Amino acid sequence: MVKRGSSYYVPTVAQSEPIRDPRLFIHNLVKRDPLAGFAEDVRRGLSARPKRFLPKYFYDELGSQLFEAICLLPEYYLTRAENEILKRYSDQIAGYLDGQITLVEMGSGSASKTRLIIEALLRRQQELLFIPVDISATALESSSRILLQSYPRLKIEAYAADYFAGLAELEKKPRGRTLALFLGSNISNFDRDEALRFLHALRKMLHTGDALLLGVDLKKDRAVLEAAYNDTLGVTSAFNLNVLARINRELGGTFDLRKFRHRAFYNEAAGRIEIYIESLFKQNVRIDKLDLEVEFAAGELIHTENSYKYDLTGIAQLAASTGFELSHTWTDSQKRFSSNLLLAN
Ligand code: AVI
Repeated sequence: MVKRGSSYYVPTVAQSEPIRDPRLFIHNLVKRDPLAGFAEDVRRGLSARPKRFLPKYFYDELGSQLFEAICLLPEYYLTRAENEILKRYSDQIAGYLDGQITLVEMGSGSASKTRLIIEALLRRQQELLFIPVDISATALESSSRILLQSYPRLKIEAYAADYFAGLAELEKKPRGRTLALFLGSNISNFDRDEALRFLHALRKMLHTGDALLLGVDLKKDRAVLEAAYNDTLGVTSAFNLNVLARINRELGGTFDLRKFRHRAFYNEAAGRIEIYIESLFKQNVRIDKLDLEVEFAAGELIHTENSYKYDLTGIAQLAASTGFELSHTWTDSQKRFSSNLLLAN
């Protein structure tokens, strides 16, 4: 890996003799001391009433792997449903925009679903510039390498950054017609204000005539929704409790994971799955690096995530209030999930 200020080239094949690939450039905008932010947010969250953690802290290395496992669970229909849509309609989606398209993806992660869009675009144009933005530089490196090996006509300029820093950087770059992707219903984990703020920032980065493909999970039967977040194998429980394990690993916490449990239920009035960690007993937990002793009552809940579910009216409203027009919605055969093309107007 060759350092160049805060950006670097990455070898594309893991071999003893690294091969540098001129088709890959990664800008690293991630803050130097991520532990300080985590420590501060944990302190703040444990002093709040009710206690809470931010969902972004699910995704350390183990948490990201657990999320990949969630996507394979029979109960977690979201990933399969979105795949079904993209497999069936990627050519139609790619056909919505004219000319040479640049592909941007926010929160690209392993970029596995992106392949379907990349392939559709490469059926229409000779070359493709792909600009993934993801907080994890390691995920960007490995997914970019794999994509470049599969697609010789692809170039990648990646940004390791949080969404807003990445969008601010992209806004400064001259770009042709752009299709942006925000897949996997990642919008679900934003509260309404955050969703609006994010879509506004995304719209600001795009030009009139560009488009956003937004994956959104739909409102449905409570039993189907609750099963998706309470799988029988316990992977979602492990994903949730891993935040406590992460505090133990990184901040010298003393959480005994057997004394807590995962809780997830659908709050129909608010239109969201709510996820919590429940303390099974009255107990005290010490976190050495924060020099903090935290008290938990028996049954006390720590809020860790919301996952909002939408209907088509809600999606159209989100689009209209952020400078987009909802142009087309595709759904899977069971109408559980939606892929929405929002045109920047
Ligand atoms: C990433 N996000 C869309 C997932 C969701 O369904 O809200 C995160 C998740 N949390 C528990 N299971 C999956």
